[in-house]
Amino acid sequence: MNDEVIVRPLRHEDADAVRTLDGRIVGADRSRTWDRYVDRFLRLADGKALPEAPWGCFVAESRGRIIGFLLSELRGGEYGLPRGAWIMAVAVDPKARRRGVGRKLVDELVNSCRQRRVPDVFAALLPGDGEAGSFVRSCGLDPSKSVAIFSRTV
Ligand SMILES: CC(C)(COP(=O)(O)OP(=O)(O)OC[C@H]1O[C@@H](n2cnc3c(N)ncnc32)[C@H](O)[C@@H]1OP(=O)(O)O)[C@@H](O)C(=O)NCCC(=O)NCCS
Repeated sequence: MNDEVIVRPLRHEDADAVRTLDGRIVGADRSRTWDRYVDRFLRLADGKALPEAPWGCFVAESRGRIIGFLLSELRGGEYGLPRGAWIMAVAVDPKARRRGVGRKLVDELVNSCRQRRVPDVFAALLPGDGEAGSFVRSCGLDPSKSVAIFSRTV
């Protein structure tokens, strides 16, 4: 049996498989807005009017099945904020976790950033989310010195 995991750019025709995988993951896991992020990206990715799916989005495939995805957004220095790729969603099929798939997805984004001279990769996490924190740290991300996030409850 070949369990090799291939990470490749998201394509238009992946949108439904990613939606299905995301639907399974959202059930058990965190963010209330996760589904909106993912859906927004997938509507873009599904837009056949675009020649290619958006840059910085990848899927992990094993035996022809999508088992993980990463969606990122390139932010280009608006208001003096640093230019970088923001990870908006990264998720792996619960049955395929802790086998390095998530890290492989992030590594692919990092490689793409290097090629495109995008200097940084960012991820915003919920405070106290130890699992996500441990994951992003293991992918080489550290608490940012260049972005401070402020908020006010209204
Ligand atoms: C977070 C997630 C993407 C990790 O995917 P994964 O393929 O299991 O991750 P990897 O196997 O590449 O893990 C790499 C390292 O991250 C850390 N890590 C991953 N999952 C972890 C967990 N649940 N708890 C603590 N550390 C974890 C470990 O250091 C791990 O290395 P190790 O297995 O050698 O100890 C996956 O658990 C997931 O889809 N979670 C739900 C969605 C989510 O929370 N996304 C993250 C938002 S940043």
